[in-house]
Amino acid sequence: MKILITGAAGQLGHDLITVLEPDHKLYPFDIDWDITDTAQVQADCAVIKPDIIINSAAYTDVDGCESNVDLAYRVNAIGPHNLALAACASGIPLVSIGTDFVFDGTKATPYDEFDIPNPQSVYGRSKLAGENLIREVCPRHYIIRTAWLYGQHGHNFVQTMLRLAGEKDTLTVVNDQIGSPTFSLDLARRIKELMVTGWHGTYHVTNAGEASWYYFAKMILRMAGFDADKVKPMTSAELERPAPRPAYSVLANYACELRGLEPMRPWQEALAEYFASGGAQ
Ligand SMILES: NC(=O)c1ccc[n+]([C@@H]2O[C@H](COP(=O)([O-])OP(=O)(O)OC[C@H]3O[C@@H](n4cnc5c(N)ncnc54)[C@H](OP(=O)(O)O)[C@@H]3O)[C@@H](O)[C@H]2O)c1
Repeated sequence: MKILITGAAGQLGHDLITVLEPDHKLYPFDIDWDITDTAQVQADCAVIKPDIIINSAAYTDVDGCESNVDLAYRVNAIGPHNLALAACASGIPLVSIGTDFVFDGTKATPYDEFDIPNPQSVYGRSKLAGENLIREVCPRHYIIRTAWLYGQHGHNFVQTMLRLAGEKDTLTVVNDQIGSPTFSLDLARRIKELMVTGWHGTYHVTNAGEASWYYFAKMILRMAGFDADKVKPMTSAELERPAPRPAYSVLANYACELRGLEPMRPWQEALAEYFASGGAQ
């Protein structure tokens, strides 16, 4: 298949290329192919004639979105809308990546695909707007919500913890936000599997299990050979960040389960593969 990938220089974009390249002809585009440019998206899709579009581009700076609201909505809502219109015009599917931040975090059990979103941040609201615009114009969509992504390319929590562990005696990390750390290579593999099923709809895809950022940080340090006791807990209130984060945003991969797909492996196992395959590259 001919697959057009946006945000190809991002951490998920890299892994999508790794996973899809052996079997498909890829058209990977980075920031230079601006998904908010409606005319360019339409024109290039008409020339390339992809069989599927995968959108991994987004404005992912959660705090930055609070002060750059228009940019957040342009990239996270209008961009996916442009891609959905192009996909619809060609009658092809669109895969677009969503976030756990569409939920408010007040539940005590994992959010499934049938729970009602209630985003609390500009990032979450703009991403939900993107989801809804896709649903309005492109029935052949796969909206794949994920969470707490880390991969071998790009900036992420794992790399930040490793850098700080090398520089500091103590790392304070929030202990009152719970989620599911997810290896972007595992997400890319599941996208590859889902995108050819024809089961259009909304899916939660994360590694199994849950952790606080504090516990996740301890596990990162332990696996990397640092003293995990360097990590000390703190509260979100102490951190004072511009965007509110959901206190609990574990995603139940319920739609995949109902479809009979293999459960994703536990996040600890995926983290071990991250280190076994060389960590950041
Ligand atoms: N990271 C997480 O923890 C997380 C959690 C839940 C969901 N997600 C979602 O998962 C997806 C992939 O995330 P990621 O971590 O791979 O993000 P990422 O590393 O930030 O990659 C996103 C890419 O999109 C590019 N981009 C930004 N604006 C663009 C535009 N207008 N047109 C084209 N490209 C543009 C970025 O370029 P620049 O870097 O040059 O700006 C970057 O290369 C996103 O939809 C994100 O919302 C991520």
